[in-house]
Amino acid sequence: MIEKIKEYIEEVDTFTTNNKEDLEAFRIKFSGKKGLINDFFAEFRNVANDQKKEYGQAINALKVAAEEKVKSLKEDLESKEEEKGKYGDLTRPSEPIALGSRHPISLVKNQIIDIFSRIGFNVSEGPEIEDDWHNFTALNLPEYHPARDMQDTFFVQTNPDILLRTHTSSVQVRYMENNTPPIRTISPGRVYRNEAISARSHCFFHQVEGLYIDKDVSFADLKQTLQYFTTEMFGKSKIRLRPSYFPFTEPSAEVDVYWGLETETDYKMTKGTGWLEIMGCGMVDPNVLKNCNIDPQEYSGFAFGMGIDRIALLLYGISDIRMLSENDMRFLEQFKSVL
Ligand code: DAH
Repeated sequence: MIEKIKEYIEEVDTFTTNNKEDLEAFRIKFSGKKGLINDFFAEFRNVANDQKKEYGQAINALKVAAEEKVKSLKEDLESKEEEKGKYGDLTRPSEPIALGSRHPISLVKNQIIDIFSRIGFNVSEGPEIEDDWHNFTALNLPEYHPARDMQDTFFVQTNPDILLRTHTSSVQVRYMENNTPPIRTISPGRVYRNEAISARSHCFFHQVEGLYIDKDVSFADLKQTLQYFTTEMFGKSKIRLRPSYFPFTEPSAEVDVYWGLETETDYKMTKGTGWLEIMGCGMVDPNVLKNCNIDPQEYSGFAFGMGIDRIALLLYGISDIRMLSENDMRFLEQFKSVL
């Protein structure tokens, strides 16, 4: 009998559970009214006298062990339940972390920044709400200059001097006012124009401005820089510069990159010519340098400006510019795999 009790003590010692029902069953089995311990106590009077002492100690040990076990497991279970209430189920596996994706505009912008930073250009920024001086006048576009009409402007009604910048060329002016040559900077940012919204154009879009000012900068430097850029960006090194007009550069040019005519899309995109216009550029007009307190006798430089949205449409085969600002998750999620 004593052997049997010792086995039960062992059973009690090794018992464990996470669940209330099992613990209750365990309690009833040992300490319940009709439980084992009471049975053993009932047996006490049948035990031989010389064994009573050992027998009594054994059942007591079993009784204490069973009660302690129930008490400690109960406390464990209760404290686990309390934690669940406070923090939720701590043993539950965590939610998978949903990875976001970069916006196609950011992807293209970052690529452009990367390409120019490799040849020593830093990144500069300016405000989107701009004054007349930085957006127009300092860029050789005085009041009543007809070229102001090239860019339909959103003015702040209460103050005709304040407007939403129509191009990132305004950052050129700010950068030259606040820095001395040599200057090599690119300025990405959002710009605004009062244009009808369609698949091809929007009232806000994004540009990157480039500016290089130093002693003896020539048009050949400009061309070489642009050729480096198109090779890195598009894998196309054939470019052509068409004479054009911008008030802030002289001479000015429009840059076309030779895309080729290999596929039907090439035909469509280039309207059958193989050439694609990607940016405007030129040698910074001496008047602009003067306006920014840089001596045109000592320094010269080039500038260029390109639209980020157009490049994103081109590279990712997006057919409608409005997709870029609608924030449709089904559209944006497609860029997950692109870094
Ligand atoms: N600011 C011009 C635009 O918005 C683009 C541009 C053309 C920028 C020639 C330049 C430049 O810096 O030299 O259309």
